Amino acid sequence: MAHEWHRRLEARQLTFAVLAFVAVAIGGLVLLIPPYFLQGTITPLPGVKPYTALELEGRDIYVREGCYTCHSQQIRPFKTEVDRYGPYSLAGESVYDRPFQFGSRRTGPDLARVGGKYPDSWHWIHLRDPREIEPRSNMPRFDFLLEAPLDLSHTRKKLEVMRRLGTPYDDAEIEGAVASAQAQLAKLADGLRAGGMEISEIGGRSEGLAVIAYLQKLGTGIDWRSRGATEGRTADAR
Ligand code: HEC
Repeated sequence: MAHEWHRRLEARQLTFAVLAFVAVAIGGLVLLIPPYFLQGTITPLPGVKPYTALELEGRDIYVREGCYTCHSQQIRPFKTEVDRYGPYSLAGESVYDRPFQFGSRRTGPDLARVGGKYPDSWHWIHLRDPREIEPRSNMPRFDFLLEAPLDLSHTRKKLEVMRRLGTPYDDAEIEGAVASAQAQLAKLADGLRAGGMEISEIGGRSEGLAVIAYLQKLGTGIDWRSRGATEGRTADAR
């Protein structure tokens, strides 16, 4: 009967499985292929810059300490998220994130746009003991990061590897990676001291400062804070 033609197909399990796979694969490719040719998914959005040497080191510590197990870095295009965290994330903002830190859990808040939300001193105190800021916080203390000297012996190599993966660092940036990290550390430490914080000599070149540099970079490629935080339409913020 005409309306039962598919019964014959369904009776052949293997053929049917293969055909079903082909159908689903076509659907997948239709979704996957176009973004590879769209500006803004494979190319950085204007304003999105590679991590500085120090931020890159901070990022590695973020990964090492498993911050991603509690924090996502991906604001979804829902009103609830945009109202809380800022304009939703765009692919072109993550082009220098290898590996990306989108995350899948939010025991703590999303961090995709935490850069510039708080002063450096806030992060210092929060890393030392989150309960000093939010008594009900269940985030662990990361005070040890504030006393661990940052190891810069692989910094240059890390930039080289990132360049091989496609991040456009030039020769001068790679040559000067360590000096640049040290300068950014000194600037951060000076800023904290000027604000009245007591930062020890080791604290001033600590892993914690690298993490703070990294956090302050997140989500700042798009200049959205100065344009009104909760507008919510990233297209407008570009
Ligand atoms: C066990 C889960 C957990 C881990 C691991 C964790 N956090 Fe958190 N984090 C939280 C929670 C819960 C909050 C919200 C309460 C607070 O502010 O402490 C938070 C808040 C934050 C905030 C403030 C966000 C905002 O918008 O107010 C930052 C920044 C942050 N965490 C950074 C980190 C970093 C960096 C690491 C790794 C070194 C880390 N967290 C590891 C649970 C965690």
